[in-house]
Amino acid sequence: MKLINKSQKLEDVCYDIRGPVLQSALALESQGESILKLNIGNPAPFGFEAPDSILNYVAEHLHDAEGYSHSMGIIQARSAILSHAMSHGFSNINLDDIFLGNGVSELIVSTTQALLDNGDEILVPSPDYPLWTAAANLAGGKAVHYICDEAADWTPDIDDIKSKVTTKTKAIVVINPNNPTGAVYPLEILQEIAKIAETHQLVVFADEIYDKILYDDAQHIPMGSLIEKTLCISFNGLSKAYRLAGFRAGWAITSGNKALAKSYIEGINMLLSMRLCANVPAQLAIEPALNGKQCIDDLRLPKGRLYEQRELGYSLLTQIEGISCVKPKGGIYLFPKLDPKRYPIKNDEQLIHDFLMQEKILLVQGSAFNLNDNQHFRLVFLPEKDQLTHAINRLAHFLLNRF
Ligand SMILES: Cc1ncc(COP(=O)(O)O)c(C=O)c1O
Repeated sequence: MKLINKSQKLEDVCYDIRGPVLQSALALESQGESILKLNIGNPAPFGFEAPDSILNYVAEHLHDAEGYSHSMGIIQARSAILSHAMSHGFSNINLDDIFLGNGVSELIVSTTQALLDNGDEILVPSPDYPLWTAAANLAGGKAVHYICDEAADWTPDIDDIKSKVTTKTKAIVVINPNNPTGAVYPLEILQEIAKIAETHQLVVFADEIYDKILYDDAQHIPMGSLIEKTLCISFNGLSKAYRLAGFRAGWAITSGNKALAKSYIEGINMLLSMRLCANVPAQLAIEPALNGKQCIDDLRLPKGRLYEQRELGYSLLTQIEGISCVKPKGGIYLFPKLDPKRYPIKNDEQLIHDFLMQEKILLVQGSAFNLNDNQHFRLVFLPEKDQLTHAINRLAHFLLNRF
C-alpha cells in the first residue's frame, strides 16, 4: 500500500513547544490524569481575564463582522495601531503600512514566505521563539542562529551576529522582550543591530508581542523607532498584554525604507489577499484594546499578579541547588539553567518527559527553543502562587532524586 507522507517541505520544520512531550501529556489527560500545563503562554486559563470593555465592545458590534473585511484589516483597528505606533516613536508610516493577521503567528509565516527563496539565510536568535525558525525553514530558507549571551543577561552577541552575515542573509529577527529568556534589550544593543541591518540591507523582523509586559525599570524601545535605511516589520497583537490569545488578533507594521522593498511588500499583500482576511470579530477588539485603559499595568507592577508570581518563581527556582536564572525583565516566562556538573543531562527532552510522567507537570526543554546545551528549560509563571509553588517544589524533588 502506498503511504500518505508529509511533504518534504516539512522535513526541517519543528515546533516542539507543542511537540512529543505535549502528546504524552494529552495521552495522560485522556486517561483521566490532570496535568498542570506550564508549557505555553496562554493567560486566560490561569484566570487572567481580558478587560470587559473589550469583550462588550466586540459583542455589541458582532453584526458588523459578518462579512469578509479588506485583506489588510478593518480601518478602525489599523487607525488605532497607526496612532499607537506613532506615539511610540515610529515615523513616516501610514495606514497602508499596517496589516492584520490571525495572530502574529500567521503573519510570521506570511512574511517569511513572501521574502525567502530556497537557501536564503535569516538570522534568528538562540534561544528563540521557535516559530521563527520553523517558518524560515518552511519557506525554504535557512535559519542561522545568533547567540544571545546568558552571561550578559541574554543580550544578543553583536560580534556573533556580524560573523554570521553572508551574501545570502536577507533578514534578522529580534524578539524583544524576549521569549523564552525575558530579556529586554538596551538601546545600545538595538542600535548595533540596526547598524548591521542597515549596512547589509537586511529586513528587520521585530517581534514585540511582550512590549507592555515589563518589570522593574525595564523600558521597551521599538525597533521601528530606530530603523531608517532598511525595511523593518514590527509584530504585535492582543494575545499577551490583553489576554486574548484565543481571538487570534495580531498585526504588523512596515516602516523604515519602504521604497527598497516595494516588490516584497506587494508579495506580502498577495499572500494576505489569498487568505481573504483575518478573523473579523477579533479585529473588532483591537481598537478598544489599544485605546482603553491599559490594565496590564495593574498586573506587572509591584503587588500585581504577574510581578508577584515572577518574584516567587524566580526565588523558588534559584533556591534549588545547581539552578541559576537570569531574572526576566519582561514577558511571562522563566528560563533557568541547570548546572551541568550537578545535573549531567544528556537529553533535555527526555528529562522533561520523565518529569511529566512522574509529576504530571508540563514544562518545555531548552532545545525546543533552538538552544542545544541540554541545560535549560522554560516555565510559564502564569499560575497562582500555590500552584507555582507546588510545581517548583515537585521539580526540586524530582531533580534531587534523579541526580
Ligand atoms: C515571541 C512570540 N511571538 C509570537 C507569538 C505568537 O503570538 P500570536 O498569539 O499573536 O500568534 C508568541 C506566542 O507565544 C510569542 O511568544
